[in-house]
Amino acid sequence: MIFPLTTYFKKSILFKKNTTAHSSYRNGRFFVILASILLSGMIDQLTIEKILDAANIVDVVSEFVTLRRRGVNYVGLCPFHNEKTPSFYVSPSKGICKCFSCGKGGNAIHFLMEHEQMSFQDAAEWLANKYGIPFRKRELTDSEKALQNERESMFITNQFALDFFKDTLLNTDKGRAIGLAYFRKRGFRDDILDKFFLGYCPDEPDALARTALAKGYTKENLIKTGLCYAKDDNGALRDRFRGRVIFPVHSLSGKVVAFGGRIMTADAKVAKYVNSPESVIYSKSRELYGLYQAKQAIVRKDRCFLVEGYADVISMFQSGVENVVASSGTSLTPGQIRLIHRFTNNITVLYDGDKAGIKASLRGIDMLLAEGMNVKVLLLPDGEDPDSFAQSRSATQFQQYIDSHQVDFIRFKLNLLMEEAANDPHSRSELIKNISQSISVIPDPILRSEYLKECWQMIGVDQPLLINDVNKRQIEQAKSIPQSSSKEDNTDTVEEKSDKELTPKEKLSQEVRKLKQQGLGPMMNKERLLSQLIVRYGGKVMCTMQTDEGEQNITVGQFIVQSLLNDGLEFRHPVYKRFVEIMSEHLYDEDFNSERFFISYPEEFVSLTATSLMEERYQLSSLYKDSLPTKDEAYLFKLTRHIMADYQMEVVRLEIKAVEKELQEATTETLTSLQTRYQQLLSARSELSRILGERVVNL
Ligand code: CTP
Ligand code: MN
Repeated sequence: MIFPLTTYFKKSILFKKNTTAHSSYRNGRFFVILASILLSGMIDQLTIEKILDAANIVDVVSEFVTLRRRGVNYVGLCPFHNEKTPSFYVSPSKGICKCFSCGKGGNAIHFLMEHEQMSFQDAAEWLANKYGIPFRKRELTDSEKALQNERESMFITNQFALDFFKDTLLNTDKGRAIGLAYFRKRGFRDDILDKFFLGYCPDEPDALARTALAKGYTKENLIKTGLCYAKDDNGALRDRFRGRVIFPVHSLSGKVVAFGGRIMTADAKVAKYVNSPESVIYSKSRELYGLYQAKQAIVRKDRCFLVEGYADVISMFQSGVENVVASSGTSLTPGQIRLIHRFTNNITVLYDGDKAGIKASLRGIDMLLAEGMNVKVLLLPDGEDPDSFAQSRSATQFQQYIDSHQVDFIRFKLNLLMEEAANDPHSRSELIKNISQSISVIPDPILRSEYLKECWQMIGVDQPLLINDVNKRQIEQAKSIPQSSSKEDNTDTVEEKSDKELTPKEKLSQEVRKLKQQGLGPMMNKERLLSQLIVRYGGKVMCTMQTDEGEQNITVGQFIVQSLLNDGLEFRHPVYKRFVEIMSEHLYDEDFNSERFFISYPEEFVSLTATSLMEERYQLSSLYKDSLPTKDEAYLFKLTRHIMADYQMEVVRLEIKAVEKELQEATTETLTSLQTRYQQLLSARSELSRILGERVVNL
């Protein structure tokens, strides 16, 4: 379609006074927001594209979430919020993932950023390493170094400490004589020391501190990570783990979040284990020791074994039971349960033969049931713990013991309580209460009624009595804790923070909230539609026009950018504005593949928004219900022009309102020009209505 130059494209439809092309998309506060992200964009876009091409999204997500195939997509339990039925979708063909319940997702880089709390740069690097894509890292400038976020530098410090501890264990005389000898005595093989990154901290006041400081790690970070503490006011550092063997704790992606150190002497006055304190990178209740090493085996076996301590995990792993994690001496938290739940529905809790310990932990197990997990229990022979048991048996023997001894939790609990009740008739009603409490938290009604039936048969109580009790409890629970299980999840609740402390993301949503309060919500919706056009069709030809040099193709991107320039308009939404700015730098690129380009753009908000705009694939065409979503020029032309007019109409509407207000207070000097402007706006409005009245359908 040839479109005459003068009738639309080159003229300002709003007849705005000021039509000088603005140069200042880069100015203003929005850029400040985005700058912090730009600074981290150290891998160039071409490399990012290569990385995203190589990264198989299914592969990446599967490292953290168990996925099942569903048609052309994959689904799993969303790792970003608590759910019991899967709504997290992964699309291998589009290279993106998305939770249809909480909305989180994006490309492989975004997924890692959100999941591992990494920076854009780190996530890209992680993928580049995983897929063997070569990349070049630019040296950081001083101000960039300062900007590198707190968490990153703490991880780096921890990684240094891990290497230092490992090196001390293997390559120093004392390390070998004390630490290595200890591990050997416990029967840990060399490959296992390696797998769990075990180490040793010299028995000196500040061996780690001195080495770290000499290498440029800061005192602040040594303290923040808890590796060291200040001994006194003059601030000399002491190593927290001195003289101990070291068990590093890894996050799911393999970052070192904390350490546990075990004492070498049998000194009753000193704690056997010392652990890293909680910090911005370590929350005890959200980590499980060994999960990083165990996750693949958990998926493979579709079961997770839960034990108490570091040594239990390592010995079981070494004996071939690799799907094992530890809660590290504390009782299980909902956050930890959810972590396991991402990989499997099935958990087996291991107990040593000590009855007191078992009774104390029964309550924690109700939480597992409440999360909808199938819980089994494995009771070890008297006097054995998982560590000693695994060390004294072959892998086959261990497996046989598991197979023949693990029992369903409800049955286990019932047996345990019945044994007690046999000696004490009063505890019978306690027993019923206790067991119905456990059953009432099970979310699956079918499972619940199966258990009810079984218990009723075993205890011999009236079935209705038990059912009644269970039902009553369920109602109470529903009343008392409306959102019982999501409580632990809200780690990102934004507390009252001053402007400086806000993350870029928080700043952005604050900014957008303000704009909405100014009544710009509808306008930003239109900006979003135009951005969607840019992302989807930015480089596609929508019409041809006559110029002095002959016929010239006009792309959707050129049309949008030029139309905005003609009227001196700027988008108000910070991210959509960025789309226009970026598009304007690539108007004449040959074969500009806009989707691919924006989805891999090395600015977090841009690529993330692009992903969600792509997801809303059919939103544009559904605006015009009768038309098919064809992408021929004529369709693109009408669609783009329509949406642009829609946007301009909103601009005109707002300006008419403003001028009307000014007219009320006009002086004789301003009256004429205001009236002229008003007339211009009114006729712009009618021209726009005419365009908008054109049917887009039946092309
Ligand atoms: N624990 C701890 N601090 C302590 C004692 C225990 O953090 N003072 C945690 C550790 O994670 C430990 C787990 O609780 O692994 C279980 O404690 P315990 O059974 O006492 O230790 P074991 O793992 O059996 O340690 P070991 O076999 O080395 O004596
Ligand atoms: Mn032990």
